[in-house]
Amino acid sequence: MSTPGACPVADDLAPNGCPVSAGAAAFDPFGDGYQQDPPEYLRWAREQEPIFYSPQLGYWVVTRYDAIKAIFRDNITFSPSIALEKITPTGPEANAVLASYGYAMNRTLVNEDEPAHMPRRRVLMEPFTPEALKHHEPMVRQLTREYVSRFIDHGRADLVDEMLWEVPLTVALHFLGVPEEDMDTLRQYSIAHTVNTWGRPKPQEQVAVAHAVGNFWQFAGKVLDKMRQDPDAPGWMQYGLRQQKLHPEVVTDSYLHSMMMAGIVAAHETTANATANAMKLLLQHPDAWRELCEDPSLIPNAVEECLRHNGSVAAWRRLVTQEAVVEGVTLPAGAKLLIVTSSANHDPRHFGDADLFDIRRDNASDHLTFGYGAHQCMGKNLARMEMQVFLEEFTRRLPHMRLAEQQFSYVPNTSFRGPEHLWVEWDPALNPERRDPQVLAAQAPVRIGEPSAHAITRPLVVQAVTPVAQGVVQLTLAAADGKPLPRWSAGAHIDVSCGDTGLSRQYSLCGDPADAGRWQIAVLREPASRGGSAWVHGQVKPGDRLQVRGPRSHFRLDESARRVVFVAGGIGITPISAMARRAQALGIDYQLHYCGRSRAGMAYVAELQALHGPRLQLYIGDEGRRLDVQALLATPEPDVQVYACGPQRLLDALEAASSAWPDDTLRVEHFSSTLGVLDPAKEHGFEVALKDSGLVIPVRPDQTLLQALRAANVDVQSDCEEGLCGSCEVRVLEGAVDHRDVVLTRAEREANTRMMTCCSRACGERLTLAL
Ligand code: FES
Repeated sequence: MSTPGACPVADDLAPNGCPVSAGAAAFDPFGDGYQQDPPEYLRWAREQEPIFYSPQLGYWVVTRYDAIKAIFRDNITFSPSIALEKITPTGPEANAVLASYGYAMNRTLVNEDEPAHMPRRRVLMEPFTPEALKHHEPMVRQLTREYVSRFIDHGRADLVDEMLWEVPLTVALHFLGVPEEDMDTLRQYSIAHTVNTWGRPKPQEQVAVAHAVGNFWQFAGKVLDKMRQDPDAPGWMQYGLRQQKLHPEVVTDSYLHSMMMAGIVAAHETTANATANAMKLLLQHPDAWRELCEDPSLIPNAVEECLRHNGSVAAWRRLVTQEAVVEGVTLPAGAKLLIVTSSANHDPRHFGDADLFDIRRDNASDHLTFGYGAHQCMGKNLARMEMQVFLEEFTRRLPHMRLAEQQFSYVPNTSFRGPEHLWVEWDPALNPERRDPQVLAAQAPVRIGEPSAHAITRPLVVQAVTPVAQGVVQLTLAAADGKPLPRWSAGAHIDVSCGDTGLSRQYSLCGDPADAGRWQIAVLREPASRGGSAWVHGQVKPGDRLQVRGPRSHFRLDESARRVVFVAGGIGITPISAMARRAQALGIDYQLHYCGRSRAGMAYVAELQALHGPRLQLYIGDEGRRLDVQALLATPEPDVQVYACGPQRLLDALEAASSAWPDDTLRVEHFSSTLGVLDPAKEHGFEVALKDSGLVIPVRPDQTLLQALRAANVDVQSDCEEGLCGSCEVRVLEGAVDHRDVVLTRAEREANTRMMTCCSRACGERLTLAL
């Protein structure tokens, strides 16, 4: 292992003539360091040498998030054709063995170039959509339950051997439409296949591996022949056989044979490894495990965080087809790349506090474990569903499970990784179902697709409920486990679930952003409220536990601003007070204008006066002073920003008064959407072309763009789904957008480079998106 910062050793030269650094020379993807923890092993490279040439492997190794995503995005310059090429070429003896079985593994979805790949992907993808996957869920649940029941009274189990190999294999077989009777044979074959493709078998092992792979090949062919007898049976292979009739030139015999074999490995092994990695990670973080046991709604996001932090696919390979620059290094055509997705998933440039395991991380599903773009894993939502069901079963029936003492070993290979064994133990006398058989009946709903931000809640304890003005109470909240709370930026809000009312309300944080020990919100009792504020005022008391989401920052202070005017009306002071405090801390020139009907009804007046002195102007209606918005914004000035929060009529007046000011001067916080319900009678359908994925998706008049994308297996995050929060934003490359959100400013709308998929649509017939 190299010393970080150590300088190049000139013994080895990369193909471009540059000396290879010590770290690069020492890089060994088959050694224990990489096998145990690839992101940690490559930390030095992410920090100092994000692309390097490995003389040992003959590959360029790429380690950062943006570069790897860009490589996935351009599958013409960076061909996937070597994705399954043997890292260690087999010798003549093993090759002869493979030939004796008629082994003719062809290109599959994983390693096929354009123009062949996308037409095949398009005709074979339908069974992977969330809608088509739904009916597999009961089968996954039943299998999982049966396997856990086999060992639940033993007090100790190797989860890999006793469950995680067999259940995903059976699910894969069902999905593919393969009969179950050959499971054991297949299990051995698929291990051999991994070693054959990604590992470094010794010469004497190569022959044994070649026999197993040859048998696997012949077996897959026989099963496919069986399926041809009954092509209407359920299963992806049968779907492929039916598609073959419609598109014989696209779906060929040899293609189906290769897909059959590759599909078994892809669907089974990656999920088994991913779950073993996830369980290991969760049990190594007992706080996170306990939280999942207490709140299963966290499971979908925990699955994403496990896939990010310690996924089962560590790296992919690509071949450079024309001279290209990656991380500033010019690579010639013919260069081979090892793109280490597991390293990208720990890149702090994309994931805040990237090494932290945080089951509430709100961009966890940005991980590259499933790849990205045209070659993204088609089975990702099947894997997600299985992992959710496994975790749900384990957390409910074995919450007292812990890791046993053990050394973890991995099948040595560069790409697929998971522990060969995972020993866990527990006291069967404490099994919850012994006390309460109802435990078996409960089950949390599975979310097919990427997790919704709605599900990521955080339990907080109410430390104090303090009246801060007439009709306004301040809640002081702290983490239920006493730990520090995440940092927030001025203007951020949280979502509070209002007990049994089923309501969720957004409140701006109004305390000191630097205080990680507690959060504060202030809530006005609104007579016309739909129940949220009435619940806070009537029910919440110190010691209560609240479920909270966020913080989210969609109303952000531009910290490089030269001069800022803050305008708050009534309870709108909450985000504005945090922003003004921040502006003061940064030394920005600012003024704070605060209006209300009566002094008694205005929160924090004394505190604000003490903090801001003459920079604060109060406009108190019953004391005869009103804010003259026209006068305040009478003369347009460059480099001034106006931040406002308050009643709609105040915001409208500011909007009108600022019309002659430079674009984007006025920035406002919205808490309610003006979006109505989607009325199909008033909408027109359109299509979206997805440049990175190579797909064209129709959007019906009765569908949002977000719904259409998800139905086609494209991951887009969302939160409010009302055009308020900005989390569903995508980049627009072509086509005019009918913007309906309140997130983008006027200038941003006019630029037409971004849109919110939950509400905005196409003006015309087609949009092209960078997805
Ligand atoms: Fe909030 Fe679309 S999900 S703006």
